[in-house]
Amino acid sequence: MLHDVFILLGVTGSIAAYKSAELVRLLRKAGARVQVLMTPDATRFVPPLTLGTLAESEVLTTVFPENEAGSWTKHITLGLSADLLVIAPATAQTIAKLAHGFCDSMLTATALAARCPVMVCPAMDHDMYEHPATRRNLEILRGYGYTIIEPEHGALASGLVGKGRLPEPVHILEAIQAFLHPEKPLVGEHLLLTAGPTREAIDPVRYISNHSTGTMGYALARTARDWGAEVTLVTGPVALPRPAGMRVVEVTSAEEMNQAVQAHLPVATFMVAAAAVADYAPATVSVQKIKKKDEDLHLALRKTPDILYNAGLKKQPDQILVGFALETNDAETHAERKLLRKNLDFIVVNDLSIPGAGFGTDTNQVVILGRDGCRHELPLADKQSIAAGVLRFLVPFLGRR
Ligand code: CTP
Repeated sequence: MLHDVFILLGVTGSIAAYKSAELVRLLRKAGARVQVLMTPDATRFVPPLTLGTLAESEVLTTVFPENEAGSWTKHITLGLSADLLVIAPATAQTIAKLAHGFCDSMLTATALAARCPVMVCPAMDHDMYEHPATRRNLEILRGYGYTIIEPEHGALASGLVGKGRLPEPVHILEAIQAFLHPEKPLVGEHLLLTAGPTREAIDPVRYISNHSTGTMGYALARTARDWGAEVTLVTGPVALPRPAGMRVVEVTSAEEMNQAVQAHLPVATFMVAAAAVADYAPATVSVQKIKKKDEDLHLALRKTPDILYNAGLKKQPDQILVGFALETNDAETHAERKLLRKNLDFIVVNDLSIPGAGFGTDTNQVVILGRDGCRHELPLADKQSIAAGVLRFLVPFLGRR
């Protein structure tokens, strides 16, 4: 998909530089010509030989190569001929230099001279990322028209947990592809999406919930937004960054999620229910913390509203309704029943018995079943790719309305 595209890949001195090797490989596989520019510190993390071999071109680290007299203008010519300069990972130091026009390495000099668009993928420790200096420098870069790919939340090399992880190379590749060839098959559509778990209060300090992290739902929301859809994301409590460019409705319980869906359903052209809704909630919520007394504690539970079933009752003929079925056994049989009972057009079957599928993993493997009897498999892939696969499958059905 990137044939005839020339990409300059800037690599800076972050531990995440190891991911650059995979990124070079993916870019080459997609057909791009790649020229790697490394800062001197980056070469301490990854040998230029590795990236140069994968890129099939010599890695450039300095503006003044010792044995290449007359070639010192390369930083100018590269920035003129490239289609895109991607800096991944970009350290706080390099971001600061770019913001203020420093050009003390081949990479920063090329960036300053570049006429091509620039994409920056920050990677650093959480506190460095959140520091006002870095935030301001990133704003300055946005002001230059640079595209910033937000780092991810998760375990960091320091041992801390927070925002600052370089996204997986496959996500950076997708961002590059989306930037160079923006695909907008969902323009004119309005997606109503439920994501994450719900929490059902037992007392002021305890609740019933499940292991859903919201990853799959958020990936769907971001992709639909990038593909031009208006998105309303109704989300239970998750630890993911709030996605930009969409309406986000934060809820806690199934009852609240049901109300939010009822409120937004009429304007949606399609709905995808990726939330893992608690099926039962305590019949009464204790006002005070329940004290530990007897050996056994019996909680009376009451069914929560079936949000998707309710949406199915109100579904307009031109709306497409898609559910997820989370199953541990006889996945497709159970899913088919849900498809009919909830008046859905499609159901995405998530079989938890398959390794790498379902909760708490970065990957998933699903089968989409249609009311018309169709069956479409999406093999094991990261959740962002599965999200794109599900939406790509739905596009022709949306267009048919
Ligand atoms: N769902 C919903 N409201 C609920 C329960 C489920 O909207 N109270 C939605 C889910 O978001 C999903 C689909 O219904 O899209 C199927 O959810 P799942 O948990 O697999 O099935 P249930 O209907 O809860 O049935 P069971 O728990 O018996 O498998």
